[in-house]
Formats: sequence, structure tokens, C-alpha cells
Amino acid sequence: MSRPGQEVRLEDYKPTDFEIETVDLTFRLTPSRTIVTNRIALRRRSGGGNAPLILDGDDLTFVDLKIDDRTADSSRFSVSPSGLEIRDLPETEFFTLEIVTEIAPADNTKLMGLYRSNGIYCTQCEAEGFRRITYFLDRPDVLAIYTTRIEAPIKEAPLLLSNGNLKERGPLSEGWHYAIWHDPHPKPSYLFALVAGDLAVVRDDFTTASGKPVKLEIYVEHGKEARAAYAMDALKRSMRWDEERFGREYDLSVFMIVAVSDFNMGAMENKGLNVFNDKYVLADPETATDTDYANIEAIIAHEYFHNWTGNRITCRDWFQLCLKEGLTVYRDHEFSADTRSRPVKRIAEVRLLKAHQFPEDSGPLAHPVRPKRYQEINNFYTATVYEKGSEVVRMLATILGAEAFKSGLDLYFERHDGDAATIEDFLTCFEDATGTDLSQFSVWYHQAGTPVLTIGSRFDASGRTLTVDIEQSVPPTPGEDRKKLMHIPLRMGLFDPDGGEIRMRDVSGIDISGDVLHITDRNHTVVFQNVQARPTLSLNRSFSAPVNIRYEQSSSDLAHLARYETDTYSRWQALNDLATRELIAATGATLGGETVQCSNALIDALLSTVSDARLEPALRSQAITLPGEADIAREIGTDIDPDAIFAARSAVSDDIARHGRDAFESVVENILPGGRYSPDAESAGQRALYLSALNYLTRAALPPDALLPIFRSADNMTIMSGVLGILVHRFPGSAGAETALAEFELRFRDNPLVIDKWLAIQATIPDPGTLERVMRLMGTRHFSIENPNRVRALIGSFAAGNPTGFNLPDGTAYEFLAEQIIGLDKRNPQVAARVLTAMRSWKSLEPIRRDKARAALAVIAQQSDLSPDVRDITDRMLG
Ligand code: PHE
Ligand code: ZN
Repeated sequence: MSRPGQEVRLEDYKPTDFEIETVDLTFRLTPSRTIVTNRIALRRRSGGGNAPLILDGDDLTFVDLKIDDRTADSSRFSVSPSGLEIRDLPETEFFTLEIVTEIAPADNTKLMGLYRSNGIYCTQCEAEGFRRITYFLDRPDVLAIYTTRIEAPIKEAPLLLSNGNLKERGPLSEGWHYAIWHDPHPKPSYLFALVAGDLAVVRDDFTTASGKPVKLEIYVEHGKEARAAYAMDALKRSMRWDEERFGREYDLSVFMIVAVSDFNMGAMENKGLNVFNDKYVLADPETATDTDYANIEAIIAHEYFHNWTGNRITCRDWFQLCLKEGLTVYRDHEFSADTRSRPVKRIAEVRLLKAHQFPEDSGPLAHPVRPKRYQEINNFYTATVYEKGSEVVRMLATILGAEAFKSGLDLYFERHDGDAATIEDFLTCFEDATGTDLSQFSVWYHQAGTPVLTIGSRFDASGRTLTVDIEQSVPPTPGEDRKKLMHIPLRMGLFDPDGGEIRMRDVSGIDISGDVLHITDRNHTVVFQNVQARPTLSLNRSFSAPVNIRYEQSSSDLAHLARYETDTYSRWQALNDLATRELIAATGATLGGETVQCSNALIDALLSTVSDARLEPALRSQAITLPGEADIAREIGTDIDPDAIFAARSAVSDDIARHGRDAFESVVENILPGGRYSPDAESAGQRALYLSALNYLTRAALPPDALLPIFRSADNMTIMSGVLGILVHRFPGSAGAETALAEFELRFRDNPLVIDKWLAIQATIPDPGTLERVMRLMGTRHFSIENPNRVRALIGSFAAGNPTGFNLPDGTAYEFLAEQIIGLDKRNPQVAARVLTAMRSWKSLEPIRRDKARAALAVIAQQSDLSPDVRDITDRMLG
């Protein structure tokens, strides 16, 4: 039994002394007094001796215990809300326990375990929520077969759902009824789910590749059925794709998704009964943006893909979280890449990785993809485990090649189906299938920090050789001063002065396969022979490794790549590097009181890209979207002054807008797709390009008055919220901005998911007055501290998405956040801890802000009754 707040260590892993073979649960549901009867059949493992059985619990009221159907004498067990220890167990190999507990779903504000959301009973058990329902061996390596009987009043809960297949249902006395569900697949407790309430259903059918029929059901609030159509479509496409691409079929006769409005995370892959944050199910053109549609598609796919990577093969312990999450993110990324545009998807992935994972890896919260210790597992659902975990799987595919990667993955599915596995098990499959030694590669899982490749190059015209010096290093991270050498797959291209790609031959000093350089030593001196003219290097093509590259490259070389690279992702990367360099210089100029000017090299490169009709609009839009303020801050690294960055970025944008006015005008006039709204990637790309161009035009010619009519006539949420965002951020406090905000509020006042956009747009206004605005909005009926989506939209966006508005030099916004975290922590520690991570880069601020930030964190740390979640984050951030 693990106690909250006590460090858990990977090396302490020990299998349980007992196995649980079957679990028979009965729920008698009432909001404040739900009775749970949990009958488990146990098997003693040989060698266990007569060790006591210690079951996990959290906030439980104990009612009764039977051992082999006889009421247990109180001398045989000790019980508390957080655990049940049973001694003198029967000496037989098999025995049963029947444990009765009482819980209060209506009072469950943590949204872990069994809780109520808008009158619906629902559960969330990952990671350690099942112990808030009943005493159990609540760990992922205990796999059992579950049968669940649910009883509830028919009127209140006509719908009774759990995992697996419905076996039986019928009436009971006094207006109650029951349903019995059976899940034939052994599963860990974190995949258990129950839903009961009054919901509408949208149905469809799917036939698997081998011809088995599957009923598909999406449950939503009454009246919202039409908004589930896109999710259903995405589900069917995900199921087909997983068959075609990975040979994975679904394995039950029904697959259900339930949308709830109070949810700590995005969604949950419970066996056969996924529970979703409704934000990732509900969509129609009037209320959802293109981004919402893309997220729904990706998250529906992600949770569905977990059925094989997570559920059939689960994790031995929570240190192995990346085994299911990294691999499943990789799979959903591939699905989106195949479904939409691969380079556009890759750009978005890298932008996200750099915005969330790189700062995590370089700050106080850094941890390996597979951590070795944790205080609170809820705090390890991180960008490192998910996004870097996915990048590690991608590198494995790059190193092995597509076919060998597939054979390793097939072996994994075959060998470990039904297991609770580890990262070692996973890697061994690739070693066995391909005969490759992956011991050095495995360092990616064990070592925190973003590797740095420092690269230099020399061209010798007379000898026609290109020499490239490569050095790898990893900066120290908390608790890890010395770093091991890693195997870094670096894809690279060489381009001649005419833009042609040079074939890399006669290479010495490194292993090379295709265009992949295998960096394994600290230093490599790589020599390319027979190179006719000085080439331009394109490094880390397609972002083949999640590393930082230090390489002095001239602006003209970057512009050359932006023009001639055949790897589309890398064209964008070159433009982005060019822009980043310019923006860093501009920030320096701003701080030195000089005027900022944008170079012609950047302006030309951006404008020729935006007007290049051969490129997809989504790419053109990505190309002209400058690195954000947080990106610039990350690249600068220390002594960050967010106001200087904002000013510099604005000045550069103004310059681009002035020079590009004609180009942007032509985009705005011509690009929007005609006809009815369609969420497909191509139309979405056109809208994205339209909005980026419109944004620039507000810096050149377009007055705020011109935006209001565009906002009013928008027939879809992408354009409407996009234009609202431009208006409100570019002209904060203007009459036009306030009018648009008021009209938007009036129109969508009864749709909280849309109002979240309205809250987030206001929370991210780059203005010192935004703190006050956020405080004011907290007092309106649109905000509720009880709903995680509202908290994230308003407080989360303010803290994580408003560099200037949040980082006020007087520290008042930090104080505000500390106060909110302390209050929220008492209700929902998981969400409080998550929102607090917005301050993870506080140490890289300039001294005045840094001191204020430290003081605010210290105020949190001084609280005596913090949750383990917030305590853990605060301690590590201050440590
Ligand atoms: N396992 C869920 C997912 O990725 C995330 C989650 C974690 C949801 C913990 C709820 C609680 O896919
Ligand atoms: Zn997941």
C-alpha cells in the first residue's frame, strides 16, 4: 500500500502476494450514500507465506467484510479510510472476500473515483481512483475479470453502463432497476468504468476486418445528439485505420463513448466504455473551431488505440506510463498524419513539443520519459511522458526502418497480449525481431533533459571535402548531473548552390543509413568526399530527434533551405529558425533602446512563401506565424523580460505587415473556401491562412472598425472566434472589441464550451489590465471553480498563455495565481497542480520578476494542508 506524499521508487517494485481472479461489483447508487459491494476471488501465489493482505483505499467508509462468506472477526483486520489490512487469511490457495463500502458521489469534488457530473454518475479510475470506490489491490499489474451490477432509480438513471457486454437488465421494486455487465478481458482496476444517468445516444455500426459486428454508441446530453456526428465518424475511421496500418482489431461487441462536462483530463480509455471530456466529443460548425475538430479526431483515435496499447497490453507499474502513452500518442500522430497533411501535422507536433516538453525538460520539473521516482503519480501525466515518449517511439522507427519497426511491434503485440509489461519488455521485442542492440538507445527512456548537438562544418574546395564536427551533450537536470551518451538519429541533407540535393556518398566517421546519421559518440568528425561546391546543411530533417541544434548558419543559408528543401517540414524549420534569430536580436535591440527592424532576408522568405500557391495553405499559414513570445523566451533562455519580447515581436510583425500588405490583401480576398463549412484539413488550412493574413493586415491598413463586420458575418466558429481574438488582442479595450465580446456572450451564453473560448480570449489579452479582467470574469455566471474546463479556460489560459499580462513586474498576478491554487487545491488537487505548472519556467525570468515568482510559490509552500499533488509540484519548482 502506498501512502500519499510518500516517495515511490521503481527499484522497489515487487509483485503482489495475491492475485485477484474475478471481481463482482454491486453498486446501489444514490448521490450521497452509494453502497458498493465488492466480491473478489483471490489466489495466493506460492511463496507468499502467510503475509497479510493490504488493500488500498482512499476516503472510504467501511461497512462490512466477509472472508469466504463469513463475517470477519474484527481482530482479523484493521481498517481506515486509506487502507484495509487483513491477517490470518485462509490457508487455502483460493478464497473470497466480500467488502462493503459507502461512498458519496455527490461530494466527490476531486473527480476521481465515482462522482457526479451534471446529474450523471461517472467514474475516473486512472491512476489511483478505484481505491476511492472500494478497497482493492489498486495497481496496474493486478488483472481481473469484472462483473458489474448497477442498481439505480429508473427515473434518475434510465441508462446503466459498465465495461464489456450487457448480460442482463430488469426492474426492481420501488421504481429501481438494475443492469449486469460482464467484461471477459482481464483488466487492471484503472480501466474500470461505470456510467449511470439520463443521456441520449447516437448509434452506428462497424464490421471488423475479420467480419465481426460491433455496435458503436456515443452518449451525450439530450439535445446534443447532432453534435456527436463528427466524433462517430472519427471513431469509425480510427477503427479502420488501426486494422490497416497496425493489424489491430476491436475485441468486444460494443464500443461506447460517454461525454461528460466535468472531467480532469481530455478523455479516458476504460475498456469498451471510454469517458470523454465533452469538449472532445461535441462539435458543429457554429460552435466548434477547426482546431476543435482536429482535437476530437485525434483524441477519439488516441483513446480507441489504447485498446491495444494500454488495455490488452497494460503497464506493470506507473513508472511504465510511457509504455502506453508514448506509444499511443505516436499512433494517434501517425493517424492524423495519414488522415490530414503529414508535414503540417509534423510542424504542429514540433511546435507543441517545443512549447511544452522542452521547457519541462530544462526546468525544475524535468524527469525522464520513464521516471525512477514519484511523489504523486497524477503529476506525471506530462508532456515528457506523452510527447517525448512518442518522439522516442518515432526515433525507434527511424533507426530500425519502417519494416523492421513493424516486425518488432508485431512481436510486442503477440508476445505481450494480456500482460502488464515494462519498457524493457517493449524494447526487447525490437531487439529480438531485428537483432539490433538497443541498450544505448534505451537511455532515451532513463535520462532527463534535451540533448544538444553542437555542430560545425568546413568545406575544402580544393580537396572537395565537407567536414562536419558533431558533439553531443545533455545539460544537467535535477538529480542528474552526469549524463550518458545517447544514440541520436540525425537526419541530414546537403544542398548545392543551385538548390539541388547532393547525394551523400563516401562518408566516413559515422554510421549512416539513408539520410540518417547515427550519433553515438561524444564527438564525431564526419567527412563527405567528392562534394563539388560548398553545400548548405539541412539538419534534423523532419525533426528526427527531439534535440536542440547549435549550428551557426547564415541567414542566406536558411533562406536557401526555406526555398529548396524537399522535406517540407524542414522548409518550415528553416524559416522558423530565421525568424527566431531575428526576434532574439530584436529583443536585444529593444532592451538596448534601439529601434527594431526586420531584415529583408526574413521578409522576402516569408512573403515568397505566403504567395506560393503551390504550397498548401496550412503550410503557408504556419510559415508566416512567427514564433510565439514563449518560444522566443525559451530560445533566449535566461533573464527573460516578457515585455521586451512582446515589443520586439510586435515591431517585427509591423515591419512584415508593411512590406507584405499586398500579399496579405490578396490572401484575404481570395483564400476562403466557398460553400458550406467543412472541417476537412484543406479547408481548415485555408481558414488558418486567411486569419494569419488578416492579423497582419491589422498592422498595416485594416482598422478595428473593419473587423466587426467580418466577425458578425462569420458563418462558422473558426472565423468568428479567430476574428474576435484578433480584434480583442490587437485593440484591447477598444469599442469594437468590447462590442464584439458582448455580442458573442449574448449569442453563446448558454453554451459553456463556446463561452470557454470567450473566457480564454480575454484571459490572453496582452495588457496589464487583464489581471483585473480575469478577476472580474471569475465573478460572472460564466465561471465556476468547480468545472475544470472553466478553470483551465480562464485561470489556466491567463497563467500559461499570457506572457505579458501574467508576468507583471509587480508580481500581483503571481499572488493571484497562488491564492487561486490554494483555494482550488481543497476541491480538486489534480487540476490545481496542473494549472500551477504554468510557472515551471519561473527561474529563467529576469531578477525582479523571479523574486516575485519565488515569493508567490513560497506562499503556497507555507500552507500546512496542501494536497500531495500541489505539495509535490511546489517543492520541486522551488527545489
Ligand atoms: N489515460 C488518459 C489518456 O491518455 C489520460 C488520463 C489520465 C485521463 C488520468 C484521466 C486520468 O489517454
Ligand atoms: Zn493516453
